[in-house]
Amino acid sequence: KRRVGILISGRGSNMAALVEAAQAPECPYAVALVASDKPDAPGLGWATDNGVATFAQSPKRIAKAEYEAAIDGALRDAGVEVIALAGYMRLLSDDFVARWRGRIINIHPSLLPKYKGLDTHARAIAAGDRVAGCSVHIVTEELDGGAVLGQAEVPINADDTAESLAARVLMEEHRLYPKVLAEFINR
Ligand code: GAR
Repeated sequence: KRRVGILISGRGSNMAALVEAAQAPECPYAVALVASDKPDAPGLGWATDNGVATFAQSPKRIAKAEYEAAIDGALRDAGVEVIALAGYMRLLSDDFVARWRGRIINIHPSLLPKYKGLDTHARAIAAGDRVAGCSVHIVTEELDGGAVLGQAEVPINADDTAESLAARVLMEEHRLYPKVLAEFINR
């Protein structure tokens, strides 16, 4: 199985969906490491409880290059071949992206190329959109700009808030991400 490293910053529900999918015998990947820029990220506790190795490095009080070298070292020590960003809320440097060129994917809560960046659900509602969704894409130097590998759509209801829409999209994220990661690895 190909060894995947997952970067998180918080809850880690997409990470958990990937770990659970990896338990199927036919899944082409295994989760070798969950790493976080937030030592208190709730997802790290879930990973530990579920037998997945974890690593945390705060970027505070050190240079960005030093922070990223620590993350990079932990991923390489774990034999990681592909990186999946799952609610990792920090920009990777051009250097880091170049070192892992074509081997980092991300899930983003919008139908890219719409709504790159933050507050995607509030922006979709404010625009009067009737559909929202999520995208899995290759990570490049351009924020949320790499090739889209897969998308899922959900309706936007008249009474939706950003929170209710986020919850509906998140359910689709949990289905989409394991499927697209497996396809990416089998490609
Ligand atoms: C997810 O909705 C993910 O798509 C989004 O953050 C949430 C993380 O939830 N990612 C981004 O906005 C990336 N810029 P999770 O920690 O429960 O997976």
